Amino acid sequence: MTVNQRHLPARRLSGMLGQRAGEQAAYSWLSEGIRQLVVNGRVLHGTMLPSERELVAELGMSRTTITRAYQELRERGFAEARQGSGTRIRIPGGEIGGGAEPLAVGVQETLPPGGIDLTCGAPTAPLGLASYYQRALDQLPGYIGGMGYYPLGLPLLREVIAEDYARRGLPTGPEQIIVTAGALSGVATAARAVLARSARVLAESPSYPNSVNSLRQHGARMLAMPIGPEGSDVAGIEAALARGGIGAMLCLPDFHNPTGTLLENEGRERWARALARHGVQGIIDETNAELWLDERPPVFPMAKFGENLITVGSASKTYWGGLRLGWIRAPRALVGAINQVRATIDLGAPVLEQLVLSMLITERAGLDEPTRASLRASRDWLHGSLGAELPEWKIQKPGGGMSLWCNLPAPRSAALAAQARKAGLLLSPGATFAVQDHGLDHWLRVPYALDGESLARAVPQLVEAWKTVA
Ligand SMILES: Cc1ncc(COP(=O)(O)O)c(C=O)c1O
Repeated sequence: MTVNQRHLPARRLSGMLGQRAGEQAAYSWLSEGIRQLVVNGRVLHGTMLPSERELVAELGMSRTTITRAYQELRERGFAEARQGSGTRIRIPGGEIGGGAEPLAVGVQETLPPGGIDLTCGAPTAPLGLASYYQRALDQLPGYIGGMGYYPLGLPLLREVIAEDYARRGLPTGPEQIIVTAGALSGVATAARAVLARSARVLAESPSYPNSVNSLRQHGARMLAMPIGPEGSDVAGIEAALARGGIGAMLCLPDFHNPTGTLLENEGRERWARALARHGVQGIIDETNAELWLDERPPVFPMAKFGENLITVGSASKTYWGGLRLGWIRAPRALVGAINQVRATIDLGAPVLEQLVLSMLITERAGLDEPTRASLRASRDWLHGSLGAELPEWKIQKPGGGMSLWCNLPAPRSAALAAQARKAGLLLSPGATFAVQDHGLDHWLRVPYALDGESLARAVPQLVEAWKTVA
């Protein structure tokens, strides 16, 4: 449980601290205990600590002990004394927040004051993430004797990622893993390694715009294969691949962004076989694989069905976007080519974050339960309230992912976004996700991976804007 109420009662704090053990001086046990609660995100910036008098009574410690503990917290920057109003928790450096993922890099709109950004949505960091950083700091001395460059990734992390694939049913060697600065970087790197500049690349449309833009920027000629809320059209894909002339295909079989659809094993196998049959390089983006919300789907990574497939993974949605880490799982035959390109883009990811990610994958592989539960509740709430307010919209409830892909009764998505913008609500109209430069004006992506308060404020504004343009 996180505590964000303004006053933290002494009893509550005592319960969160647990029993004092060991030889540590009482004041230092108390101040370190509170600091850990802050670092672990369990007590938030701005929370008022119990008065010294209350804590004396609750913990049975002397007033001097409590005073000294609070003083130590202040000296370390984790608390401040407010004249006449007690001691308040603070985070050194303050609470910054923000950091929303840009959809279509370079064209991000600025959020007006008090506005709501429904163009992006990603889970926030799991509780306790900062303590992983603290533990990674303890491991850092083992690395600072060296120069710190690991162009293909820390050996430890590459090993842990490979083991995770094996656990998911896809035997993988650490030499097949190349750590990147996120999945987008992985897609860009892989494409540069395997694609001729003017290659024709097939992608389901809608798709994740940053990857499509990256491929296009490399010189790829993008071709669209329609996908709707019913999921991938495998027969259509087979037919398109059979027509020939395609160099690569971008595949998002796991809670596709933005439709939220999941492809079952049978479809994965057919798709992978068609790619192999027609000599088309598959690039599988499994960024969203862990975002299942109802039950864990019994699917294998798509690369299980085709040994030449390149897979791209990410820490952004499963753990935290701020880690800025992802990876490529390369077929053995392509490892050399991808390694070469990797070294032309940058010379490796930060050591500290890689240590953090190694521990996260080893100790808690996957999305943590509170994050999943909160995403599930937001999905259900948003699906229910949009369904009630806008019954003429057709909205399927996805089994995972981060957004609803809403079918509007008229091609007014761009008009709706322009209208909502006037009220301070930023939306991405369907065309943002189109792989070729037109269409999808019947569609709107509405993310639910946002805090409940923003969602509750956004829905009436969305409804209002729709009434104006419908
Ligand atoms: C399908 C897909 N690929 C890639 C990304 C970007 O991931 P990363 O932050 O790892 O670059 C996203 C982010 O939303 C995504 O949905």
